[in-house]
Amino acid sequence: MCGIVGYIGHRDAYPIVLKGLQRLEYRGYDSAGIALYNDGELKVSKTKGKVADLKAKIESENNTAGTLALGHTRWATHGVPNDVNSHPHMSNSGNLVIIHNGIIENYESLKKELKARGYTFESDTDTEVLVNLIEDVSKKENVRLGKAVQIALNQTVGAYAIAVFDKTKPNEIVVARLGSPLAIGVGEEEFFIASDASPFIEFTSNAIYLEDGEMAVVRRHKGVKVRKIKDDQLVDPYVQELQMNLEQIEKSNFDHFMLKEIYEQPSAITDTYRGRLLVNEGIIRMAGVDDNLERFLNARRIVIVACGTSWHAGLVAEYIFEDLARIPVEVEYASEFRYRNPIINSDDVVIAISQSGETADTMAAIKLAKEKGAFVFGVCNVVGSSISRETNAGAYTHAGPEIGVASTKAFTTQITVLTLIALKLAKAKGNISNTDFHMHLRELEMIPHKIEVALEANEHIKEVAFKYKDARNCLYLGRGYNFPVALEGALKLKEISYIHAEGYPAAEMKHGPIALIDENMPVVVIATRKGHYEKVVSNIQEIKSRSGKIIGIVTEGDTSVRDLADYVIEVPDTIESLTPLVTTIPLQLLSYHIAVMLGKNVDQPRNLAKSVTVE
Ligand code: AGP
Ligand code: GLU
Repeated sequence: MCGIVGYIGHRDAYPIVLKGLQRLEYRGYDSAGIALYNDGELKVSKTKGKVADLKAKIESENNTAGTLALGHTRWATHGVPNDVNSHPHMSNSGNLVIIHNGIIENYESLKKELKARGYTFESDTDTEVLVNLIEDVSKKENVRLGKAVQIALNQTVGAYAIAVFDKTKPNEIVVARLGSPLAIGVGEEEFFIASDASPFIEFTSNAIYLEDGEMAVVRRHKGVKVRKIKDDQLVDPYVQELQMNLEQIEKSNFDHFMLKEIYEQPSAITDTYRGRLLVNEGIIRMAGVDDNLERFLNARRIVIVACGTSWHAGLVAEYIFEDLARIPVEVEYASEFRYRNPIINSDDVVIAISQSGETADTMAAIKLAKEKGAFVFGVCNVVGSSISRETNAGAYTHAGPEIGVASTKAFTTQITVLTLIALKLAKAKGNISNTDFHMHLRELEMIPHKIEVALEANEHIKEVAFKYKDARNCLYLGRGYNFPVALEGALKLKEISYIHAEGYPAAEMKHGPIALIDENMPVVVIATRKGHYEKVVSNIQEIKSRSGKIIGIVTEGDTSVRDLADYVIEVPDTIESLTPLVTTIPLQLLSYHIAVMLGKNVDQPRNLAKSVTVE
């Protein structure tokens, strides 16, 4: 995810686009750039770093005139964050300039064809391929920019929100969207392009939100013409009058980034498995694993190192890898692993999981594992982060920036990547039947929809939160795949509401923790109708017989737990190995609502930081 901004009209474009980037920086912030057109000249300034770095760079050159500009703050997906890979990108002729939010999945094959036709490339990005494809089409078909963009986009696979202009025809910008948001601010003989309305809300409250599969030619004096990319059908644009304020827009009308990110999980998981989970072909494509498959297949064991929520994702992976791929797995707190003189062998594969890619303990664990000869594979959410550069190979989650300190979409996208790897290895080792493999692929593909359904319980969860917001302690119980989810649910509650909470394997209760049970102890029990369901029901009965208050996370339609629990929260049914992806959702919402009701700073809880870069 990133931020795109554009302006064409009668004002100075630079200050509008720069401030727009500052407002969109929450969407992605590893590099930034602005292309500015003035009187026949096109100036492109871009740099690794923040928008503030870009501002300093441009203003040092003291040339900011022009009434046409495009700006971009990047969240890299292809090509590490550096000056060259930053946007805007220009075509070989230097006439076309583009900014892009999204992923062009088939960029490698397109790049190969363009290279064969003599095109050269400065960057490693998919975006530079797209702008040269547009140029190539424009030349071959001898068509205007709008038609060239349309033809080119119909040759791409992936997601995009783009804005393009041709410096030889500076009275129009062409925009298009598929899978990434794009809004057009409609002013008096001036138009704004942006990922959301925050860059232009102070200039106009009239906006056109392109639908997926739509493009538009925005002309300085002639207005906006919208059409379908696929069939060229003209669309009558709906200009809506926005009733939002700036802060609301940045959070997309959510009260907190954490809630926004909880609700982004369906799209984040879709973005994470896009281009990797190929259900119709019955394959999983992951370059980082494909290129190192023998390493994984010959691994004596897999050692997972991580911290916090990422460590919980590692625990889920332990169940999946051992259950499906039959590869021994050990999960280590990175902070312990790095100091305990662990035994690591050259035939070990170490998987390091980190949302930020900057966690000091995890980085130290990686370095130790490499010193001892292990192959280290990274699962990170930030392209070009320290950990992603330190590991031998890796696979990115495509969750987009996670702003809330409490990790939510990072957790479910980490599990998605780890599930893809486990299934791929299970298939390669012949440890899963074709039928089961395809069933897992289809079920994984449906998970975003199932999370959407789980999110529908939000109002009910709010009622449950109100009931238990004053608890002093809370227990979370789960079995099997959902034991790590119990730990994660407890971490969510304690880190944002400051209520003490612990997660336990459900069967472990009778070995001590059951002494804690009384009428003041709420116990969240994950009791989906999978695995050892009947055993969990027995655990619930043990708690009930000691007056414990029970919140059951159950499979939709469950009646057994409903009869025993004080409250139940339903989640859609899915296969056992994928239940963590749905049972986590109500636990995230429960902790969020309790923290809000207690008046806590949900996005920046006390004592915490989004990335723990110190030991
Ligand atoms: C989880 O909600 C916390 N923010 C924290 O435990 C976090 O998961 C941990 O610090 C690891 O961070 P990383 O994934 O960026 O390495
Ligand atoms: N895929 C493009 C890149 O990596 C755009 C990423 C983004 O959305 O910022 O540069």
